[in-house]
Amino acid sequence: MRSTVRVPATSANIGPGFDCFGLALDLCNEITVDIHAEPKITWGGEGEDELPVDGSDLISETMRRVADGRALPAFAMHGVNRVPLARGLGSSSAAVVAGVVAALTLLGSEPTPMAAFPLASSIEGHPDNAAPACCGGFTIALPDGAVHRFDAHPDVRPVLLVPELRGSTVEARAVLPDLVPRADAVFNAAHAALMVRALTDDPGLLGDALQDRMHQDVRLGLVPPVAEVFRALRDDGVPVCVSGSGPTLLAFETRATVPDPGDGWRVLRPAIRARGFDLVSET
Ligand code: HSE
Repeated sequence: MRSTVRVPATSANIGPGFDCFGLALDLCNEITVDIHAEPKITWGGEGEDELPVDGSDLISETMRRVADGRALPAFAMHGVNRVPLARGLGSSSAAVVAGVVAALTLLGSEPTPMAAFPLASSIEGHPDNAAPACCGGFTIALPDGAVHRFDAHPDVRPVLLVPELRGSTVEARAVLPDLVPRADAVFNAAHAALMVRALTDDPGLLGDALQDRMHQDVRLGLVPPVAEVFRALRDDGVPVCVSGSGPTLLAFETRATVPDPGDGWRVLRPAIRARGFDLVSET
């Protein structure tokens, strides 16, 4: 059997929806697992020179966790990564979802989005990335494990401003305060409600909805050059937020073109991806 799994990049939080909201983006990693080929691991694309080839990568580790002692056949795995690593674009979730889907397939189970999501979420720990990676579109992951998926409005046009510098989600969570003042909780609840309307029905509301008082300011404090670009865009009226735990910025193109910040940045314009992972298998 030879199976190819494609898993999208994801942008979590989307401003006020900390740890709940996520968007699937049409920028996909791809792995091919082949049980007929000589067992080895090879990589192409983002991180190809730094990812391990000894089975200690996140996809292989995930496959072992899903197998949970059951034997997986030997296989060759080739990964092609298009999602920038350690930038707040869900590359870890993409790896974990790919591993879950590949392992379920090798074990003879059907990897539906709702079979893959709870496994990926518990292994990787960020349901707001795992949900759109599995289900596509705009997702709301609830703390009880439920996921609600919505189609994004066709005029929602994401622009990713990806800095050269990398971020660590662990560090970006460590700086967050444990308690949120009541006024800030109310602020985020109001803007999160508006954001659902903005993303699904009325993109003209994105500028008003994309505000947060729970995580962005303190995280931008970790990356001053990114904070500078964020503020310049905000001052120009561009709807913008920190993608996931950063340091990528997620902006939305409304009337004006989002400007390129220049040296040290990549600008990507992936569409929103209506579906999550996909799988093609041949025997
Ligand atoms: N909601 C998580 C965070 C996403 O912001 O820390 C991590 O990808």
